[in-house]
Amino acid sequence: MAYKRILLGTDGSEASAHAGAVAIALAKAGRAELIVAHVFEQRSGAEEILRTAVAPAEEAGVKKLSVELREGIAAEALADLAEEKDAGLLVISGGRGHEFLLGQVAHKLSHHAPCDILIVSGPKERGGSVYGKVVIATDGSPTADRAARKGFDLAESLGASVTLVFVGHPKTGELITADTIAVYAGDTPTDVSILEGDPAEQILESAEGCGADLIIVGNKGMTGAKRFLLGSVPAKVSEYATGDVLICRTVTQAVSELRPGQGGIIVQQGEKLAAFMDDGGGLHVMSAKCTHMGCTVGWNEAESAWDCPCHGSRYTPTGEVVNGPATRPLPPA
Ligand code: FES
Repeated sequence: MAYKRILLGTDGSEASAHAGAVAIALAKAGRAELIVAHVFEQRSGAEEILRTAVAPAEEAGVKKLSVELREGIAAEALADLAEEKDAGLLVISGGRGHEFLLGQVAHKLSHHAPCDILIVSGPKERGGSVYGKVVIATDGSPTADRAARKGFDLAESLGASVTLVFVGHPKTGELITADTIAVYAGDTPTDVSILEGDPAEQILESAEGCGADLIIVGNKGMTGAKRFLLGSVPAKVSEYATGDVLICRTVTQAVSELRPGQGGIIVQQGEKLAAFMDDGGGLHVMSAKCTHMGCTVGWNEAESAWDCPCHGSRYTPTGEVVNGPATRPLPPA
């Protein structure tokens, strides 16, 4: 599974206890480290809130468990913590105050995009598995592909089935969904739903129609030229969904998510860096700025290369130039 480190933000409410239950189940399923964090504005009672949130994780036998107590504004501090700890996933509750917290996290994300966010809506019968049915929304863009890959990884690790939803032209939808399934679905049972209309509404309806308990969307790419992270589709889906919503950060990622042979853009101290993990597990970190004119390169999974979207320069995974116009390698960071 993609997440090696999960950060749970708790505020001591009943809603965040439900988020805690999901975070614990995910940490156990993926043998991930769980960091339970409470951000306080007033110290009195803060330790008690943290103790109460940690107890179920200890009871459940989560092996790698740590706690963090921070003072400040919840979303800011959680986003900072996620970056500092290189967490792949931040789990928060979608209960009371959810729009406010999510709004703050979204604001922070628009600058840093530190990790994926799972918004847990409330209590539900979770039976033996956290999620039984997952809706993954795609539009075929490279960023949506990353959300699809994470979604299928997650579904596989939890034994969930998937409904892949495409909203747009039916012919395009057939091609894209077939391609996505061929590349990412593996043995996961997958249905396809191709719809037309408002993307967020269709995704929500589709999730309700198939009884999905989790919707997975990318934070970018769902509506083409959205310039703002958490643009209309993910924001609308997370606001109106009755189940849980996982918003995958689809442009940058955490080092802990990289697998051998894979590259990705990471953010360190506000700077975008190109990170590649070689087959031996060695990490190569370079500037992500193309040496031609400074555009940010992107990882091309199919070609195992860094591509520059501006004028087509290509670099090897460790930054040497394959194609110009760039002539100099990506400098090590
Ligand atoms: Fe990268 Fe021109 S800036 S190819």
